[in-house]
Amino acid sequence: MKTRITELFGIEHPIIQGGMHYVGFAELAAAVSNAGGLGIITGLTQKTPEDLAREIARCRALTDKPFGVNLTFLPTVTAPDYPGYIDAIIDGGVRIVETAGRNPEAHLPKLKEAGCRIIHKCTSVRHSLKAEAIGCDAVSVDGFECGGHPGEDDVPNMILLPRAAEELKIPFVASGGMADARSLVAALAMGAEGMNMGTRFIATKEAPVHENVKKAIVAASELDTRLVMRPLRNTERVLNNAAAEKVLATEREKGAELKFEDILQEVAGVYPKIMLDGDMDVGVWSCGMVAGLIHDIPTCKELIDRIMSEADTIIRQRLEGMLGGAPAVAA
Ligand SMILES: Cc1cc2nc3c(=O)[nH]c(=O)nc-3n(C[C@H](O)[C@H](O)[C@H](O)COP(=O)(O)O)c2cc1C
Repeated sequence: MKTRITELFGIEHPIIQGGMHYVGFAELAAAVSNAGGLGIITGLTQKTPEDLAREIARCRALTDKPFGVNLTFLPTVTAPDYPGYIDAIIDGGVRIVETAGRNPEAHLPKLKEAGCRIIHKCTSVRHSLKAEAIGCDAVSVDGFECGGHPGEDDVPNMILLPRAAEELKIPFVASGGMADARSLVAALAMGAEGMNMGTRFIATKEAPVHENVKKAIVAASELDTRLVMRPLRNTERVLNNAAAEKVLATEREKGAELKFEDILQEVAGVYPKIMLDGDMDVGVWSCGMVAGLIHDIPTCKELIDRIMSEADTIIRQRLEGMLGGAPAVAA
């Protein structure tokens, strides 16, 4: 399958693994890239630019295919050393960068000068248009369903993707709620040129996270996520657990007086304990509603091959069959 996204990034299949804190290590990025998708290392999970340089080198030793690095621009008071991370990306020979969070404009000239292709992840048409205007090469349009930060507009992908297609000239991928061939074909039908998956890629053999995390995703239904930090306008979709319930109780109790410090314990610095140690109730962690569609823990190659072969069947048999008047093949 060739799309503007496979051509832009030089990949075989239009499937991207979004940056994920304490999940997007070299092992996962390389496994996705080796399977013909685009794997992405999460920049800020590496504590320093030197650590990121080492992670990039590790990934390069595991794959000769293209991979990218995610740079998330956080609304923090003391910003991480973004110029240092950007140097590590460029010096490490990485030419694909997934930006997310705040407007990446200030950092684009250096990245573009080095020949990097930028895919910016955002949750609205207006932010997508801004990304296009500042020179991003593509957008990852993240619907309300997504794991992580869905923004504050609450527009699901069934509306957001066709709206993005109406407005954007640069190619975009669908992100949020994507799990399988049905997601991919639907996303393509709505104007996307591929899909970005987060939660689905955590439940794979190569994802270097604790088995408890993978099992929690497989066990969860589409009803098991919660939105936390909405009162702080920093909404995050997380898997429901004891910590999420505590955060929501604090939010109800404090109302408009809520401050970040009130929920600090459940929110800050919890990822290593959850993702690496498998301590599942110690804090909140991002997870998409798509958990309801995840029933197994395949390798990345099994997952991507299955998606591409089933997409072929859906397009050639189910959809084309409907046009030809033949009896429909179940999706
Ligand atoms: C555990 C987890 C951690 C994430 N961390 C980041 C991150 O650090 N930076 C980022 O841009 N997106 C992050 N995301 C968002 C994903 O890259 C992706 O956009 C999202 O998961 C798509 O929705 P889905 O989970 O329904 O596939 C994270 C998602 C999850 C599930």
